[in-house]
Amino acid sequence: MSRTVLVAGGAGFIGSHVCKALAEAGDRPVVIDTLEKGHAWAVKWGPLERTDIGDATTIAEIFRRHRPRAVVHLAGYIEVGESVRKPELYFHNNATKSQTLIDAACDAGVEAFVFSSSCSVYGVPRTPLLDETHPFAPISPYAESKARVEGMLERAARERGLAALSMRYFNAAGGDETAEIGEAHVPETHLLPLAVDAALGLTAPLTLMGTDYDTPDGSCVRDFIHVSDLAAAHVSAIAHLATRGSAGHAGLNLGSGSGYSVRQALVETGRVVGKPVPFSEAPRRPGDPPRLVGDSARARALLGWRPTRDLAKQIEDTLRWRLKMPR
Ligand SMILES: NC(=O)c1ccc[n+]([C@@H]2O[C@H](COP(=O)([O-])OP(=O)(O)OC[C@H]3O[C@@H](n4cnc5c(N)ncnc54)[C@H](O)[C@@H]3O)[C@@H](O)[C@H]2O)c1
Repeated sequence: MSRTVLVAGGAGFIGSHVCKALAEAGDRPVVIDTLEKGHAWAVKWGPLERTDIGDATTIAEIFRRHRPRAVVHLAGYIEVGESVRKPELYFHNNATKSQTLIDAACDAGVEAFVFSSSCSVYGVPRTPLLDETHPFAPISPYAESKARVEGMLERAARERGLAALSMRYFNAAGGDETAEIGEAHVPETHLLPLAVDAALGLTAPLTLMGTDYDTPDGSCVRDFIHVSDLAAAHVSAIAHLATRGSAGHAGLNLGSGSGYSVRQALVETGRVVGKPVPFSEAPRRPGDPPRLVGDSARARALLGWRPTRDLAKQIEDTLRWRLKMPR
């Protein structure tokens, strides 16, 4: 049955792919976004409500007008380095304002609330493969803001009967297969778009930060997950919560389960683009764990979710988008 779903942050990279997946599943996404970081061109599958999730009056009015059955909450700032310089900005925008959205969702009695959390809540991994039982130990204000929102959802589930899932993404990458939307952060800090742009000669050579980690080739190892696989998990999460019909909150890792080193990702990008990625080597960036790879068995068991797009596919889709994106 078709649902109206409020998608906070739906004009952003992952949010726009979630909107497309919802529309393809027959649902009606309504985007809430300030457009401070997102793009009006990325809102294609439903109306845009241009407002801040912290504006309680407008948010309540939007819930009354659209009567959503579910909320996907992706709104927030995403730069870890900036969060270290401006912690209060991240606590306020990402965490405090989220409480307003959660309260409005509880008041409206939505069936499902799905939140964009992050594997960064785990901090520096104590195990090679991270599962959801790993303790929280955030090491940046960004990660701390995500942990705080998960705490808010835990409480809302307990005290107000909310049914919620926190999706702990690993490294979101790739883009829509038809390149009608894609990753367009300003500034762009993510590896694959930076590597593709450098290989195409659109930007200066990339800087590989850290070459002396305790990993096979000395560079960090990361778990890249295709944004369309992430989007599919959100559609399944809403269906799961709505069908189950009971309150609760759980965290779910969304990763591919495979680790690639930054050097391997650069070589693979060069192969897909057909030109090597030019790069220089620099010292480690503070706060980068050597290895972040997720065990997504819980998402598989709960949602029947399986990532289907590998690193090469992520790079191919990134390349297609970087060649046509508005700059
Ligand atoms: N990209 C990743 O690899 C990754 C990894 C883990 C978690 N996440 C989380 O996923 C979410 C989406 O990430 P993204 O890469 O699409 O980022 P993005 O910047 O492209 O999208 C975020 C959107 O939220 C909007 N926004 C920010 N604050 C807002 C507010 N107060 N009110 C309304 N709108 C607001 C921005 O305008 C933007 O459109 C973020 O919460 C991010 O922390 C992303």
